[in-house]
Amino acid sequence: MKAASAPEAQRLPRHIAIIMDGNRRWARARLLPRVLGHHAGMRAVRAVVTAANDIGIPYLTLYSFSSENWRRDPHEVSDIMGLLRRFIREDLAQMHAKNVRLRFIGGRDRVSPDILKMLDDARSMTEANTGLNLTIAFNYGGQDEIVDAVRAIAAEAKSGALDPASITRDTISQFLHTAGVPDPDLVIRTSGEQRLSNFLIWQSAYAEFVFTETLWPEFDKRALQDAIDEFTQRERRYGAGDAA
Ligand code: FPP
Repeated sequence: MKAASAPEAQRLPRHIAIIMDGNRRWARARLLPRVLGHHAGMRAVRAVVTAANDIGIPYLTLYSFSSENWRRDPHEVSDIMGLLRRFIREDLAQMHAKNVRLRFIGGRDRVSPDILKMLDDARSMTEANTGLNLTIAFNYGGQDEIVDAVRAIAAEAKSGALDPASITRDTISQFLHTAGVPDPDLVIRTSGEQRLSNFLIWQSAYAEFVFTETLWPEFDKRALQDAIDEFTQRERRYGAGDAA
């Protein structure tokens, strides 16, 4: 296959963020228990991480558990926690070997200490990697993230370390959990819902959105490429508009 020309390559989104939605509907449609929907969702996570790496996307962020998800049935919450443990236990070595750098964003409250340790260890183990930057949003909520940032900025201002008049958008970005990660260019949500659900609400201010009917367990490399193509088409149209 012909390699992408340099301008094509430039139009690849630098950062793709995905709201993975539709696991339970996928299971329900097959008369399966919902936990199997999340298992299938985990297989899609593996496929999409591999695909993003192969396509050459530098940053990928996945919304795996929101701070509102604690309200779900405790059995389901426990299943998702089990899947996160499995993801780290079974996939970390391979991701590390593929030069993937792992980050986690979200609150540390309510998360069990063994999981926190796994996340910390995975982050520090892969810190020097230079391949795909994979961020897992876990126990994450965008409004809470902004509250945390405002508190930290206010504390610095109170102590005299920061002049309130010097606060800019960059200052706020630097105090978010995503500090050091560029803002997403493309946000994808699966399963037909068209909401942001408190995901990267500050960071997505200028993102393109692609909403697909595909349920998350069926999202694969082809679906990722389709979303990227849609993004590329929009970039091209805006480019033409600018020139006119
Ligand atoms: C959304 O579908 C999915 C979740 C809230 C959980 C996401 C979890 C995974 C994809 C597997 C675990 C992955 C990692 C990295 C730990 P839904 O349950 O809201 O389904 P519905 O919209 O059909 O109800």
